[in-house]
Amino acid sequence: MTGPRHTTVGIIGGGPAGLLLARLLHRAGIDCTVLESRDRAYVERRQRAGILEQGTVDVLRACGAGERLDREGLVHDGIELRYDGRAHRLDFPALTGGRRVTVYAQTEVVKDLIALQLASGPPLLFGAQALTVTGAASGSPRIRYLHEGREHTLTCDYVVGCDGFHGVARNAVPADERRTYERSYPYSWLGVLAEVPPSSDELIYTHSARGFALFSMRTPTVSRLYLQVPNGTAPADWPDDRIWDELETRSALDTPGGASGKLERGPITAKSVLPMRSSVTEPMRYGRLLLAGDAAHIVPPTGAKGLNLAVADVTVLARALTHLHHTGSTDLLDAYSATCLRRVWRAEHFSSFMTTTLHADPDQSPFETRLQLSQLDRIATSPHAAAELAENYTGVPLV
Ligand code: APR
Ligand code: PHB
Repeated sequence: MTGPRHTTVGIIGGGPAGLLLARLLHRAGIDCTVLESRDRAYVERRQRAGILEQGTVDVLRACGAGERLDREGLVHDGIELRYDGRAHRLDFPALTGGRRVTVYAQTEVVKDLIALQLASGPPLLFGAQALTVTGAASGSPRIRYLHEGREHTLTCDYVVGCDGFHGVARNAVPADERRTYERSYPYSWLGVLAEVPPSSDELIYTHSARGFALFSMRTPTVSRLYLQVPNGTAPADWPDDRIWDELETRSALDTPGGASGKLERGPITAKSVLPMRSSVTEPMRYGRLLLAGDAAHIVPPTGAKGLNLAVADVTVLARALTHLHHTGSTDLLDAYSATCLRRVWRAEHFSSFMTTTLHADPDQSPFETRLQLSQLDRIATSPHAAAELAENYTGVPLV
């Protein structure tokens, strides 16, 4: 399939940000084209976090991608925190006036959006690698891309970089027009998929002297489990038994049987190591080039904000482009970067807070460990502290 030569909105990247933006624009009658460098199978297999805020679920439903999500998504009313041999449950609806989250894997969101796009959407080209974006400061930006061994040029009214953290769009903004704020962490996550039912109905976030552990799930029969590991760890360093032993040790309670069920062992079907990083590039717009999702900002996965931020960005952007389409006014587009960055920085703070409160820094002093435990105890005993966590976890309003 060859792509068009001109489009109103050229979208680089067919991850959740690019696919959802295309859907929203298509429904608003705005023509667009998505260029995705990988093939469909690769994009549909990539493992990422799977917690959807209510606002994310609402947007997916409104654009027609809610059918399987409503059938298979697992609605969660809280999480469990474990620290110092104790377990504490946070009741989200009680703490937030009724808000909940839904467990539905990002891979499934992506599959649903791709199916919709290929059935009735604007062009989506797989194996189409954007090489450069030029003319962003002019009236007619263009994307040069490689597809089926040949170079092509797509001229656009606007270009949106939804090409993730390693994409090309961010670097098309001149270096003196952008600023990146970053933080790296002295640990990574080992993530595994296991064919065992989740050990608890809810996600369990565990602080322990041996490092963080997270018990999550994909379906009623598949668990998603994470262990804090040193940077540079190879998955091969972690045979299955070592993983199960460590998950068990890190989550042990002083009074077993208190909070939740037993950790069942079973076949591990995937293992990978994820680096942890926080990064924000400002502003999220340069002329007719806009950045959305991981192309503009990333969060460490603790708290699962990445996908929700990407959805929020493109929702704001689709509204702005629709407003421009109907009225000719760039007011909302002019406000795009500032509108998104408020929410982005809130999520950056929350993700960083969850990460540094729950992980064991290899250089951490005993004093710092006591501070972490005091913070966790505060969340367990103060409704205000608990509500602060619950509000951030379930998602702050879109704008
Ligand atoms: N040309 C075309 N496509 C590209 C290029 C390029 N030069 N570079 C990267 N891409 C594609 C990638 O293959 C990927 O499919 O852009 C897509 C970016 O998708 P994501 O990385 O999933 O980013 P985004 O859509 O912003 O979604 C954010 O992803 O990393 C997670 O936790 C994060 O859940 C969040 C979500
Ligand atoms: C996941 O299920 O992959 C997940 C859940 C919660 C997190 C991070 C990842 O905080």
